[in-house]
Amino acid sequence: MKIDVITAFGDLIENALSQSIVGRARKAGIIKLGTLSPREFTEDKHHTIDDRPYGGGPGMLLKAEPLYRAIKKLRKKTSLVVMTSPRGQVFNQTLAKKLAKKKHLIIVCGHYEGVDARIYPEVDLEVSLGDYILTGGELAACVMIDAITRLQPGTFKKDGVTSSESFEGNLLEAPQYTRPEVWRGKKVPAVLLNGNHKEIEAWKHEQALQITKKFRPDLLENASQPKVKKVQRKKQIRRK
Ligand SMILES: C[S@@+](CC[C@H](N)C(=O)[O-])C[C@H]1O[C@@H](n2cnc3c(N)ncnc32)[C@H](O)[C@@H]1O
Repeated sequence: MKIDVITAFGDLIENALSQSIVGRARKAGIIKLGTLSPREFTEDKHHTIDDRPYGGGPGMLLKAEPLYRAIKKLRKKTSLVVMTSPRGQVFNQTLAKKLAKKKHLIIVCGHYEGVDARIYPEVDLEVSLGDYILTGGELAACVMIDAITRLQPGTFKKDGVTSSESFEGNLLEAPQYTRPEVWRGKKVPAVLLNGNHKEIEAWKHEQALQITKKFRPDLLENASQPKVKKVQRKKQIRRK
């Protein structure tokens, strides 16, 4: 997958996404990441990309033309152009999965007080990270790229890492434990030590349901069909 980020602050992207899982995925060629500055598409000697808003108001806006030219330079038939924007569709795992299937993403980062509104028709989708205001779209782009990279085949050595994570099947993840078996008097649940994978799976699923009910009941309410695994269903039938 190729992801291009249009930003005047390319170092923010590069610094955030050169280590850990994303850094390794880039080295392995699973994700190709590029940044392109709108400054490259200016014609004045100061490479001006921002200007004051018409009608007054605080701060500066990114000018439409450098963004337009940057998009035009990068866009191919397979591209999806995404604008980071507080008014956009809120980013979540479902959207991450949709975007992860695209061959080429172009993420446009607003900055300062935003962008000249005439650029919006040039983008395919506006995406927000949530109901708060960030300084620029760069951090939003980094979050999206991180979530999308995790979903690419080959990012993790073992398959299935992401399939048991929170938001899969509208559930949060079950609690997890590592060594030592007893930490400050607190024991790891015995079921996790007994080596019976069916029982462990059933326990994890039950825990995930309880945790989701407690922390995010909306996930269950919004789910048309929360995933109930076979092993769990059998147990429920037996209990009846
Ligand atoms: C300081 S913000 C501009 C906010 C704008 N004046 C408003 O009130 O909606 C600058 C840029 O950061 C990005 N941004 C800010 N908050 C965001 C959010 N919640 N999600 C995605 N991008 C955001 C957008 O690209 C935005 O154009």
